[in-house]
Amino acid sequence: MLETIRQTADFLSGQSGLTPAIGIILGTGLGGLVEEIEIEKSISYEDIPNFPVSTVEGHSGRLIFGKIGQVEVLAMQGRFHYYEGYSMQEVTLPVRVMKAMGIETLIVSNASGGLNPDFVVGDIMVITDQINMFGDNPLMGKNHNELGPRFPDMSEPYSKKLVAKALEIGKSNQIDLKQGVYVGTTGPTFETPAEYKMFRVLGGDAVGMSTVPEIIVARHMDMTTFGISIITDSGVPGQIVEVSHEEVQKVAAAAEPHMTKVIKELVASL
Ligand code: HPA
Repeated sequence: MLETIRQTADFLSGQSGLTPAIGIILGTGLGGLVEEIEIEKSISYEDIPNFPVSTVEGHSGRLIFGKIGQVEVLAMQGRFHYYEGYSMQEVTLPVRVMKAMGIETLIVSNASGGLNPDFVVGDIMVITDQINMFGDNPLMGKNHNELGPRFPDMSEPYSKKLVAKALEIGKSNQIDLKQGVYVGTTGPTFETPAEYKMFRVLGGDAVGMSTVPEIIVARHMDMTTFGISIITDSGVPGQIVEVSHEEVQKVAAAAEPHMTKVIKELVASL
């Protein structure tokens, strides 16, 4: 694994004159932040050594070196999901590679179902904590002490400092930001009403099919982490309606300008 990470990091480091300190993973329907990036170099995942080959989706996304304002970033437009059949190690390889390239801060976004009855569809939630319901963990198996400890601390999965900053940015831009706990589960099925209820009882405010593995790996390597979630459908009893991937994408795209604004300002403040 160490050799794989090194090889990919070396390849990517040679691809651009930039040395970003911030990595960004853009989730479903949330690729629009890319419009805000002054792109220096864009590489398809197919062309990156050791990146998983997408068998499911047709096109698999791209990695972008660029600048948001004065700040250099490395952005993933599209991520690898566990439900696609990738192992947890494959899903999180890009985060390992980012760290090997010198990236210390990871910002992730995703679409999710709302569990908190105070949330409405289209809300933006700053993630304050997470619950791993994947039934798997990217740190299973041999631990590489060079990367991080066998038993990593998870007492601050999302940087409190960045959460506070984001909330301030929301306030000064009249963007209503919710806060809450993200439950990560495998998918690809959306939840049954009973499952939404269970995740609420367990302490979740939103549920989705990503993010948790990436954050675990980032924290294993002591990266500073931030996550933001768009509530694209409701899992609140009495409000549950049929949900589709198309609807999720539509709502995510509509809420995106606000999310983009928050991330842009957050990056500028780092
Ligand atoms: N459940 C799981 N993942 C999701 C949902 C949901 O309701 N909405 C968007 N991603």
